[in-house]
Amino acid sequence: MYILGVETSCDETAAAVIKMDEKTKRLFVLSNVVASQIDIHKKYGGVIPEVAAREHVISIIPVIDQAIKEAKITSKKLNYIAVTKGPGLITSLMSGMETVRSLSYAWKKPAIEVNHIAGHIYANFINLAREVKFPAVILTVSGGHTNLVLMKKSHTLTIIGETLDDAAGEAYDKAAKMMGLGYPGGPIISEMATKFSKNSKNIKNYIEIKLPRPMINDGSYNFSFSGLKTALLYTLQKDKNWKKRIPEYCYYYQEAIIDVLTKKTIKAAKKYKAASVMLSGGVSANKELRLRLKKMVEKEMPKVDLFVPKLSYTTDNAAMIAAAGAFKALKDRTKDYSKLKTDPNWKL
Ligand code: KG4
Ligand code: ZN
Repeated sequence: MYILGVETSCDETAAAVIKMDEKTKRLFVLSNVVASQIDIHKKYGGVIPEVAAREHVISIIPVIDQAIKEAKITSKKLNYIAVTKGPGLITSLMSGMETVRSLSYAWKKPAIEVNHIAGHIYANFINLAREVKFPAVILTVSGGHTNLVLMKKSHTLTIIGETLDDAAGEAYDKAAKMMGLGYPGGPIISEMATKFSKNSKNIKNYIEIKLPRPMINDGSYNFSFSGLKTALLYTLQKDKNWKKRIPEYCYYYQEAIIDVLTKKTIKAAKKYKAASVMLSGGVSANKELRLRLKKMVEKEMPKVDLFVPKLSYTTDNAAMIAAAGAFKALKDRTKDYSKLKTDPNWKL
C-alpha cells in the first residue's frame, strides 16, 4: 500500500510518501520533504505559533506536491493519507488537517489520524533490515514531550513514564537561550559539549560543575527537567566567568540530562523484560545519547536489541507519520474526511 503522510504539528511543514509491503510489514520511503521554519523562528529564540501557522499555509501544497513528484507516483496510486492529529500547536495542526480533509474529499482517499509521538516511535520501523522483537521499551524525547513507552505488539503503545514539567528537548532549548546560544538548543549544546570533552585533557585547573540529576533514583519512570534548568541558572549567576566556560557548562548540563534518560530507560527495560529498546524524537539525534544508551544496553542487557532511527527521521518529518499511519491502516483505523479533528493535547 502507498501512504501519503502530512506533518505540521510545530515548525516543520512536511510531506512524505511511503510504501508498505503488507505481508512483511516492511516500510520503504519513496520521498520525504521537510520545509523547515527554523531560520524564521531563530530570531525570536523559539517558535511563534501564529508565524508557524502562516508559514504552513504557504508551504503545505508545494511540499505535498513535491513529495508526490519525488515518489514518482500520482495521487491516484495512494491508498491512504495519514495526518498528525496532535499533540502540537493548534493552529499549526489545523493547517495540515484542513489540507488533508480537502485532499481526502477531492481524491476520495480514506484518512488516518496519527499521534505525533507515535509517529516518532514508528520512525524506528522505516527501512528495517531486521525484525523488531516485543515487548519493546521506547524512550521518546523531543522539544514537546519526554516519554517512556511500552510496546507489547507492533500496534499497542502504553505510556509508562513521562516528564512532570519540561521535556528533554525543552531543557536543551531553554539552557541554550539562557546562555545566548540560539535556537534550537539541542544541536548547539551538543556541539559545545563535544568540543569541551575533546579538549578537556588540556584544560588546567578546571572544576567540575555539579548539577542535579532530578528523579534519577526514584521509584517511577517519570522525569523532571525544570529543576536542572534552574540549577544551571543559579550556577551561572554565581560564576562571573561563565561566558568563558560555555562549552564546559554545556558538557556538564548534557551529562545530567543523559544520565537520567539512560538510567531510567534501562530500569524500565529490565522491569518490563524488554526484548528491544528504541530511541526516538528530536533529541535522539544526539550522538552522545545514542552512544551512552548503546554502551549501557551492551553492558547491562546484552541480549536486548537496540534500535535508533536514521538521523533524517529523528526531528519532525512526515515519513514517520506515514509509517505510523501504515500500521493503523492494517487495523482498518481510518476516518472519513468529515470526521477529522485536531487535538492539541492528544495523549498516546
Ligand atoms: O521531535 P522534534 O523535531 O520536535 C518536537 O516534536 O518537539 O524535536 C525538536 C527538539 C528540540 O528541542 C531540539 O533542541 C532537540 O529536539 N534536538 C536535539 C538535537 N537535535 C535536535 N537535542 C539534543 N541533541 C541534538 N543533536
Ligand atoms: Zn516531534
